[in-house]
Amino acid sequence: MEFKNILLAPGPVKVLPEILQAQAREMITHRSSEFSALYKDLVERLRAYFQSEEAYVLTGSGALGLETLIANLCLPNEKIICLTNGEFGDKLVETANIYTNAIVHKQDDGNGWNLERAKKAIDESEAQALAMVYNETSYGVRNHIKEICAYAKKKGMFVIIDGISAWPGTPFNCFEFPVDGFVTGSQKGIGAPPGMAMIGLSKAAVERYSNRKHIPSYYLDLRRHQKRYQKDQQTPNTPAISLYWALQKAFDVLDKNGGLLACIKRHMDFSEYVRKRVLELGFKLIAEKGFESYTVTGFYADSAERAKMIKDKLAKEYKIKIVGSRGKFKDNGLRIAHMGNVTKQELDACLNAIERISE
Ligand SMILES: Cc1ncc(COP(=O)(O)O)c(C=O)c1O
Repeated sequence: MEFKNILLAPGPVKVLPEILQAQAREMITHRSSEFSALYKDLVERLRAYFQSEEAYVLTGSGALGLETLIANLCLPNEKIICLTNGEFGDKLVETANIYTNAIVHKQDDGNGWNLERAKKAIDESEAQALAMVYNETSYGVRNHIKEICAYAKKKGMFVIIDGISAWPGTPFNCFEFPVDGFVTGSQKGIGAPPGMAMIGLSKAAVERYSNRKHIPSYYLDLRRHQKRYQKDQQTPNTPAISLYWALQKAFDVLDKNGGLLACIKRHMDFSEYVRKRVLELGFKLIAEKGFESYTVTGFYADSAERAKMIKDKLAKEYKIKIVGSRGKFKDNGLRIAHMGNVTKQELDACLNAIERISE
């Protein structure tokens, strides 16, 4: 299969032909041993990647996975501290406020969260949980969640992380990062088609949701997922079976290419390379130093007109798709995603085209 375009948006990302083709199989019923084998394989591999007590693949986008974590782990009479620094952090707050009570702390657009900045807010919050985005996709900012999670955990909080655009290109596992609920999306770094959320849960998280008498959702109730999985490794409702085959192939590709560590290294190398090239081309980086994302680079031009011209020419003349940024970088900001199975050649095609357009 020949790709007609180079897709460098931060999800959906390019899907390799073998992953796309894995979907095109004769349909099966999800109440079959064949489906049980497929789902068991996905769940066991996810548990190993996340080093989590439980893991599930949910049919729905990343936001569904995040909402599932919040609905199951947060109580209506409790508080959750939300550290946000962009559009997806703000959406996390909106989600949290449906099921519990968010105490919100913000960083300026392009700035990141580290423990030094978060400590006082955590100390003063009296919250039972903490939630934040790992990789703020709107600017390409990687928050220092490891230290923040460890601190919140020491204070007895449940920790929920939106790792949708972080995984598997950014270090994470529940063992080193004391996280109770983690979510990622299929259309991001794993390089599968959109439509699946993957969640990981710690032992404490499993105990919490399993012991609840009431969870304020039918479809998102993890007790139903757990019960059905324990019975026959199936899902409580009809899953997107074709997508699950694609996800299995995407996991095969991840493993074949050296597994998680090799994947993280590739993402770190590509991010460093893209940053170097955009700086050489005279742009400025949106992310504060030390908080640069490994999966998407945000940068800005000296004018909104120039940013628009670059984006439009890339799309029209080179068939390369990149996207703009958000917030105060909405007009002059641009983002190149380097997540998933992107190649150096594709990144070079984009950067060289920007160089030519800029001449
Ligand atoms: C950090 C982050 N959180 C949440 C979402 C929402 O994910 P979805 O559109 O899959 O629901 C995205 C999507 O870009 C994201 O990057």
